[in-house]
Amino acid sequence: MALSISTTSTTALITILLLLSGGSSTMASNESINIPKFDIDQLEFALNLEYLEAEFFSWGAFGVGLDSLAPNLTMGGPPPIGVMKANLSSFVRDIIAQFAFQEFGHLRAIKSRVKGFPRPQMDLSAVAFATVMNNAFEMHLVPPFDPYANDINYLLASYVIPYVGLTGYVGTIPKLQSPTSERLVAGLLGVESGQDAVIRTLLFQRALSKVTPYSFTVAEFTSKISKLRNDLGKRGLKDEGVIVPLVQGAEGRIAGNVLVGDQNSLSFDRTPEEILRIVYGSGEENKPGLFYPKGADGRIARSYL
Ligand SMILES: *[C@@H]1O[C@H](CO)[C@@H](O)[C@H](O)[C@H]1NC(C)=O
Ligand SMILES: *[C@@H]1O[C@H](CO)[C@@H](O)[C@H](O)[C@H]1NC(C)=O
Ligand SMILES: *[C@@H]1O[C@H](CO)[C@@H](O)[C@H](O)[C@H]1NC(C)=O
Repeated sequence: MALSISTTSTTALITILLLLSGGSSTMASNESINIPKFDIDQLEFALNLEYLEAEFFSWGAFGVGLDSLAPNLTMGGPPPIGVMKANLSSFVRDIIAQFAFQEFGHLRAIKSRVKGFPRPQMDLSAVAFATVMNNAFEMHLVPPFDPYANDINYLLASYVIPYVGLTGYVGTIPKLQSPTSERLVAGLLGVESGQDAVIRTLLFQRALSKVTPYSFTVAEFTSKISKLRNDLGKRGLKDEGVIVPLVQGAEGRIAGNVLVGDQNSLSFDRTPEEILRIVYGSGEENKPGLFYPKGADGRIARSYL
């Protein structure tokens, strides 16, 4: 008797599993049907930084952006202000071109799962990046920092962005409710952290070089930018330059800091609020500015405006 009940329930379970797997594959054509509202908001929030990276890398490498290379991904949002082609060596240009296409894929991947929103107004002008550097050094650099001038300046400007996305994804994953969105964000995190590692490695290689015409080294620029992000985020130390005091390095035993991590070398996390405080440059999630003069889009960012 016991045996037959268990056989019956096993059969029923297998039937249910078959139905479920059949059901989910027929729904794969519109996966957002499976995605809870909470997850949709988190995924849409990510679009803000992905749009920014797509445009900055695409323009930097090719001198054109989404409007020329993937117009459907803009959903009609306005082109970014002040972005331009960077004066890059062929080696760095090739890397940035790869990053650009990776970001196009990220935008498409997110939008294949959630409706999303048009490209928000972004300011990627030299002035915006010069402002970041002035705020980081708490002084006016003369001449103003030009992100597009050469490899090293462009890599320093690039240092400003993917890491913020990375910490956001680390913060998002444990809060997500559906495996579909967890898988997506894990995939985004993997490549964003790879981009961050490449940028940091190229900067680490030049860590002790001066960033001409200034008297500061590459390592000093990274430390100042990281400190600024820590200050704006207002949640303690989550950001470190490529050379740190020994105590901040891996195991508290090494000054080289090609990857950022906590005491156990695990990635730091940030909330959408912390990210907005940083990318707005204002330290306030309800005060847009800097890279998003009209604010970021999606339900989370809009809820603060
Ligand atoms: C998928 O469904 C969502 C929610 O009903 C809808 O907003 C979205 O436009 C659909 N996407 C596609 C590609 O059909
Ligand atoms: C872009 O959108 C247009 C109009 O909706 C559509 O006809 C075209 O196939 C799309 N192209 C791509 C590459 O998705
Ligand atoms: C472009 O970068 C190279 C190498 O750093 C530099 O020598 C050159 O002056 C730069 N050109 C312009 C127009 O800034």
